[in-house]
Formats: sequence, structure tokens, C-alpha cells
Amino acid sequence: MANRRLPHENGGPSMNNKLQIRLPEHPERIDQDSEYCSVLLDGTWHDIRFHDYDRIFSIPGLYEQLFHDVLDCRSPDVVGKLLKEQIQADDVDASSLRVLDLGAGNGLVGEQLRTVGAQHLVGVDILTEASDAALRDRPEVYDEYRVLDFTALSEQDTAALARHEFNTLSCVAALGYGDIPPAAFRSAFNLVGDGGWIAFTIKDRFLGDEDTSGFARLIRRCQEAGVLEVRSSERYRHRLDIKGDPLYYVAIVGVKKADIPSGLEP
Ligand SMILES: C[S@@+](CC[C@H](N)C(=O)[O-])C[C@H]1O[C@@H](n2cnc3c(N)ncnc32)[C@H](O)[C@@H]1O
Repeated sequence: MANRRLPHENGGPSMNNKLQIRLPEHPERIDQDSEYCSVLLDGTWHDIRFHDYDRIFSIPGLYEQLFHDVLDCRSPDVVGKLLKEQIQADDVDASSLRVLDLGAGNGLVGEQLRTVGAQHLVGVDILTEASDAALRDRPEVYDEYRVLDFTALSEQDTAALARHEFNTLSCVAALGYGDIPPAAFRSAFNLVGDGGWIAFTIKDRFLGDEDTSGFARLIRRCQEAGVLEVRSSERYRHRLDIKGDPLYYVAIVGVKKADIPSGLEP
């Protein structure tokens, strides 16, 4: 796809009280891991890296304006659509979904899953700022939101989460890149009952031969071991980068057949 010219600066506060956001003037040498923008706050421009989610979530509206309005992020919609198609194909009532939303951020995926019809939603994120933002921006979306590190879940946390009897895991735009590692994904996967739905997105490169995140091997091994039956997989444009080039992710919806045994992840 051709590079799409992004405006260097969006509309100012006169436009619906929106934030003023600037993208770097010379984005050519900035890769996805180092992307940043500048935001005008109280008369001063602040540079904020896209991976500094704590800072982004602390500024009301910034996550939506930056990723969804300016960079046209589609991931929550794509996952919602794929999951809906698969549950309809299996004649599953969406209201029966009991979802663990891993890396829930400020709740855009939860909001989407409510639209699909899910009745019970628990958000988890490693950041207090994400939990605060979800409660601030979408207080009605999650039945419960917990700040947890899934790489080091205590027995108490695991038992408390297990009581929700999850039959669906969602994890959108949160795997790899120093975010959620394979071991944390495994812990979340294993909290879903057998026969439950697994819906996630991941950068296409992390599923290819050149992957260094460990996810390509984990997902392949899960399929080979009969732990995950992939029902639907779609490569799609997750969002634009700051140059206006598309970033491609893969959305996967599958059915959990069994727990991921220890030792299966790299
Ligand atoms: C790009 S945001 C995606 C948020 C949301 N899923 C969405 O699509 O709007 C990635 C989220 O993953 C969270 N995250 C990163 N590492 C994590 C970890 N180890 N455990 C739980 N959440 C994590 C971040 O704090 C952030 O909220």
C-alpha cells in the first residue's frame, strides 16, 4: 500500500476540545519501537513515546486521538468482527462469553466485546495508569479490572481469576515488543476452560521465520500439540506508522483444546 501522508499536526483545541498532537517532522529513521509524538499540554509541547503507555493513558483522550483518529487503528474492530463470525458459525450465544481481556489498556477492546454481546468481562493490565484510565473513560465496560503482572501471578491471584470461569481470552495489540511475553500469554491462556475462545492479534513479523519474540514458535507448537485449533486468521492493517505506512498484524481466533503445558513456550 502506498504511503499515506499524515498531517504533521492535527486540529487544535478549538476542535471539540481535542488535544493538539504533532508527529515528528522527519519520521524516516524512526522504527515502530521508537515512535513518538508531541502533545501540547498547558502551553508546553511534551514528547511522548508510543510505548510509554503510562503517560499516554494519564492524558484523557490521547490514546484514542493518537492511535485511532490520527493513525487509524483497526485492531479492536477486527478482533470483534472475527470473534463474532466464529461464535455465530458455532451457534454460540454471545451473552455466554466470559472474557479475560489481557493487556486491556483503557478499555477499547472491552467496549468492542460488549458490542459483540459479551456479558462478563474482566480487564487486566500491568499498569495502574491503564486501570485508572479504563475506570475514568469507560467505567461501565468491565465487571472487574485488575492490575497484575502475568509473568508472576501469585497463587491467590490465579485462584481469584479462576473463579470467573473464563471461556474467552482476548489480547489485542499487546503481545511482543517488550509488552506481554509468551510465558504471560500462557498463564492467561490456561485460565480459559477447554473449548473456550482465544482471540488475539500480533504483529505479522512475530509469526514469521525471523521472529525473535518467541510467539511464532509458541503458536506453532500449540497447534502441533493440539492445544489450540485456529479457526480464523486474518492479516490486516493494524494502523499507520508515523510515516503513514501501514503496519500489518495478524488476528487469530481459535478454540482452546487443552492447557499449554510448561516447556512449550520458548
Ligand atoms: C497497545 S496497548 C493495547 C490496549 C488494548 N488492548 C487496545 O487494543 O486498545 C498494550 C497494553 O498492554 C499492556 N501490557 C504490556 N505488558 C503487559 C504485561 N506484561 N501484562 C499485562 N499487560 C501488559 C500495556 O500496559 C498496554 O495497556
